[in-house]
Amino acid sequence: MKTVALVGSLRKDSYNMKLVKHIQEKFPELGIEIADISHLPFFNEEIEADPGQTVRDFQALVKSADAVIVATPEYNASMPAVLKNAIDWVSREGKEMAGKKVLIMGASMGALGTVKAQIHLRDVLDTVGVAAYVMPAAGGNDIFVGAAHTKFDENGQLTDEPTAQFISMVVERFKNFAALEVNL
Ligand code: FNR
Repeated sequence: MKTVALVGSLRKDSYNMKLVKHIQEKFPELGIEIADISHLPFFNEEIEADPGQTVRDFQALVKSADAVIVATPEYNASMPAVLKNAIDWVSREGKEMAGKKVLIMGASMGALGTVKAQIHLRDVLDTVGVAAYVMPAAGGNDIFVGAAHTKFDENGQLTDEPTAQFISMVVERFKNFAALEVNL
């Protein structure tokens, strides 16, 4: 299985990156590859037909994935522009995200742990253009890691055991979701 992860933070000490790396280590069977979205140009329809190798490589990487994980910080109650930009690049003529099963999550220092950002993210992924299948929240699958600065140690390890257990439960469910045959 190959899972591509998009992390909406370019920060070296990003909690969202730590969250994805935790899942990457704990679930090697997901085959998680973290995409580098830091060098993607801003989306512009004028360069869409010939966007350059960085964009083409990113589009090919997403296309090759069996599943996608998206981890978003919350910037002013939404997802960061760098993440939205990356999603826009895989929503156009190649429709590289179409039909992908996606697990969304997020970490922030606030108490609500990216609730507002994830509402926007879920909406964006569930559009005609992106056409991804987002893991339903039903059953309690929302990964909102609030107070993130208290949950990781100085080595970037997720040390909050209830959070780690909850994430494991949701990832196990996501493996089932990702294996579903869906033809809408
Ligand atoms: C934030 N932060 C933030 N947090 C939050 O819970 N709700 C919010 O609306 C915002 N808004 C916001 C705007 C901007 C411009 C920045 C830079 C930050 C705090 C943010 O969630 C925090 O810095 C996270 O740690 C960012 O994620 P990474 O980089 O740790 O992955």
